[in-house]
Amino acid sequence: MLIKIKTNLDIPSSEITDKKLYLNRREFIRAASMAAVTAASGSLGSDLLMSDTVQAGEKLEGVVKGPYSTDEKPTSYTAITTYNNFYEFGTDKESPAEIAPKTLKPRPWSVAVEGEINKPAVYHLEDLIPKTLEERVYRHRCVEAWSMVIPWVGFPLADLIKRFEPTSKAKFVEFTTLYDPEQMPGQKRAILKWPYVEGLRMDEAMNPLTILAVGLYGEVLPNQNGAPLRLVVPWKYGFKSIKSIVKIRFVEEQPMNTWALAAPDEYGFYANVNPEVDHPRWSQARERRVGEFFKRKTLMFNGYAEQVAHMYANMDLRTYF
Ligand code: MTE
Repeated sequence: MLIKIKTNLDIPSSEITDKKLYLNRREFIRAASMAAVTAASGSLGSDLLMSDTVQAGEKLEGVVKGPYSTDEKPTSYTAITTYNNFYEFGTDKESPAEIAPKTLKPRPWSVAVEGEINKPAVYHLEDLIPKTLEERVYRHRCVEAWSMVIPWVGFPLADLIKRFEPTSKAKFVEFTTLYDPEQMPGQKRAILKWPYVEGLRMDEAMNPLTILAVGLYGEVLPNQNGAPLRLVVPWKYGFKSIKSIVKIRFVEEQPMNTWALAAPDEYGFYANVNPEVDHPRWSQARERRVGEFFKRKTLMFNGYAEQVAHMYANMDLRTYF
């Protein structure tokens, strides 16, 4: 049986913002431009990403090497872009690459930013993307016990959050994917509760490892990888890294994330990569790196313990899985 899920998140890409929000947006751009001038990096937005006709695979300019990159060999471009989890385009690994390039229109794109912040508005994508983008080569560990190494292109989420001026009540950040069954035909089936939602605790969102990605391998992000804007949280299982984001909401209470809602005994809110806590149906101690034959040991926090372990120092990671 299909369940029709009502949503107020169907933001048309040609969103006409009301005057208050529009003014907020202008203020935001002015403040951001001033910050950019101070940083002597020119105007806002990577020039190519400002264009509504930009295509997946076009080369991104102004990409610098970011911190925290692993020197492990990146997984092939073909594997990264044809072996995907994106249930809005089907539950198998191949469908997203077959369907998403034909049906998803990632530009023009807007993101509603709301909740416990001083600068709520519906922002056009290009107003959110800084001129200088970073390459971050991160390990990517899926809960299904396979992994990849992905050279993302993006920018720190913390930089963006600071511009929205969160209030003291902002304890968590909730992210929502587009809901549009015409562009995302998998949403015509009630496999998950749509739209896909994920959340982070505020300190996780502000951690310098957390980025929003707009590209990979130096090129504009393909639709199947979450164009035009997706989260990347490399010490957590892949399902936390939500794709094709249309809403960012700052909240006081821990948000309910899609997979924890679907199967609360199997998927938690934290979803930190942890070889010592098995999934109820399989071990998380080892993983298969896509393209390799032998399995390898999974590392605590996916190898990022030095940067993130302190955030969970007083938590029982079996309870908060
Ligand atoms: N985001 C949305 N909106 N829908 C999804 O089905 N799948 C998640 C995550 N983000 C998913 C999503 C899962 S399970 C994983 S492992 C990663 O995306 C996969 O990212 P990749 O296809 O770019 O490797």
